Amino acid sequence: MRGLNSILELRVDELDQLIATAKDIIAHPENYWNRCAHKKLATLFFEPSTRTRLSFEAAMLELGGSVLGFSEAASSSASKGESVADTAKIVSCYADIIAMRHPKEGAPFVAAQAASIPVINAGDGGHNHPTQTLADLLTISRELGRLNDLTIGLCGDLKYGRTVHSLIEAMSRYPGVKFVLISPKELKIPGFIRYNVLEPHHIPYKEVSSLEEAIPELDVLYMTRIQRERFEDPWEYQRLRDTYVLDVEKMKLAKEIMCVLHPLPRVNEISVKVDADPRAAYFRQALNGKYMRMALILKLLDEAEKNPQPHLMNEMELEYDRVCHNPKCISQVEQELPQLFRCTDKAADIHRCVYCDQRG
Ligand code: NCD
Repeated sequence: MRGLNSILELRVDELDQLIATAKDIIAHPENYWNRCAHKKLATLFFEPSTRTRLSFEAAMLELGGSVLGFSEAASSSASKGESVADTAKIVSCYADIIAMRHPKEGAPFVAAQAASIPVINAGDGGHNHPTQTLADLLTISRELGRLNDLTIGLCGDLKYGRTVHSLIEAMSRYPGVKFVLISPKELKIPGFIRYNVLEPHHIPYKEVSSLEEAIPELDVLYMTRIQRERFEDPWEYQRLRDTYVLDVEKMKLAKEIMCVLHPLPRVNEISVKVDADPRAAYFRQALNGKYMRMALILKLLDEAEKNPQPHLMNEMELEYDRVCHNPKCISQVEQELPQLFRCTDKAADIHRCVYCDQRG
């Protein structure tokens, strides 16, 4: 039995299969109306959400299942000091599958180790957001007809934008994909993406700061919000918040077939006037998220039925003698959790925290 913590846990053929299932759901929704009858999805959202939580809930309802859960930490026992692991054990008594969003990086991973049902990471801090990536993949496939041979521009907050990290991890595995990383220097992609994904797999990428200069070569433009809640210094956020605004003028520089994605919510990084452009795919992307979450729930529940054994972490080569210094890591708040590291690059002697991927 497994859940989904990082998009890298799904092989490319599994991603393609999920996309195929989602397209079949779109074509024949009636075939899926009862597929999850008597099954329950628990949505445990310790951080705000509109699209992710509601699309998970809509997905389960459209499969004939039911939903329970909470949408803020204040209305759960976390506010009394309950640990993520205990919450996951309790919810395993009441539900068949969990979708968890948490401000601390690695929290859904901790939940998955403790739960006896599949746990899906619905966004952990500034780390990962694998189910948003599923929505992104279906959108690119439906808009452009392929996932290979694409130049993908990612623009905005590449440091704290968890959707960016998971999307790079997924798209790096399709042939002929190149990335143009458009950000101010303060918000460049973090080391775990650069050194675990892009560099070792020799993925072509360049880092630039001008959206105008980058836009003409792009097949996909993935805009992101500057993640105000993740900044330690509010003035830094104020300084960087308006760095990029995609407007009608800039869209004139783009290819006729380019598609614009955004995980949403947008603040002001895409002018509302762009919404009428047929290349603006972000509202269709939000709908695609529901279909991909339906496909994922079906897959994980089906696998759990066939193999109910808990899917515990591989303990090989774990290192216990380092300390994580990332204040956003779950291991910083929950003192009972063991510090766990793994060597990710022997030659460069790089060791990363198992929960949050930061260097130790
Ligand atoms: C994103 C998230 O929560 O990371 N939103 C979403 O899930 N659709 C992006 C964001 O909050 O900026």
